[in-house]
Amino acid sequence: MELKAEKLKKTDWAGKNLVYYKEVDSTNTRAMCLGTEGAVHGTLVVADRQNCGKGRRGRIWESPSNTNIYMSLLLRPKFEAEQAPMLTLVMAYSVAQALKENAIDVQIKWPNDIILNKKKICGILTEMSMKEQKIDYVVIGVGVNVNHEAFPTELEASATSIKIESGKKMSRESLIENILEKFEYYYQQFCLSGDLSMMVEGYNQILVNRGNEVCIMEPNREYHALSQGINHLGELEVIRKDGSREWIFAGEVSVRGIYGYV
Ligand code: BTN
Repeated sequence: MELKAEKLKKTDWAGKNLVYYKEVDSTNTRAMCLGTEGAVHGTLVVADRQNCGKGRRGRIWESPSNTNIYMSLLLRPKFEAEQAPMLTLVMAYSVAQALKENAIDVQIKWPNDIILNKKKICGILTEMSMKEQKIDYVVIGVGVNVNHEAFPTELEASATSIKIESGKKMSRESLIENILEKFEYYYQQFCLSGDLSMMVEGYNQILVNRGNEVCIMEPNREYHALSQGINHLGELEVIRKDGSREWIFAGEVSVRGIYGYV
């Protein structure tokens, strides 16, 4: 894959400025540098391989060559910094919709992991840079396990790829194009309303563990509750055993099913 901007025919602005690397440390790190240097809204960094791929919470994102998607989209939103974390959910929903259109029946694990057959196939890492208390730029990094054939034993229980689950080899180029097309559409609606109201229903329909008991892990406490779905701010509504409701916001919290990864 050597992706060129001309190949992205379905988008208006996302990826029109495209920076492709055969190998790079991390597309997020590159996109952040480009952001500081003044790169335009919609700049897309894509790599065939990352040698220092970043996951959330300081984890490493395994990024071998010739198989998966590693891309980072740079945005220069006009809205307030508090709204930026919702963009991660907008991207997760866009990835899910693009895959569903390709007959891959995925779900979302709140807030932004894409799940296929109870295992993770995509992770999203959003980073932001501020200038004079306003957003200077946001970088949304997306890693999709597309044609990966096998995972190390320690990841086998929780990670998989489209190829492993469906047997189908997919074109990474066209999947990138489909994801960006969806993202442009939902991003425009997000900018108009300033919240996630346009996708709450659709998101909740594919939310893993909706209606089920989940384990909520905060830095200092852990408790079980029933997962109800997200609201227009992307907070997960849960009902605790004593009947009280809480709305949890991504940040440091993680939510798991009570029987394993999802
Ligand atoms: C997660 O931990 O779930 C988030 C993983 C995000 C990985 C992607 S791959 C492209 C981009 N560049 C990175 O270094 N990370 C993100």
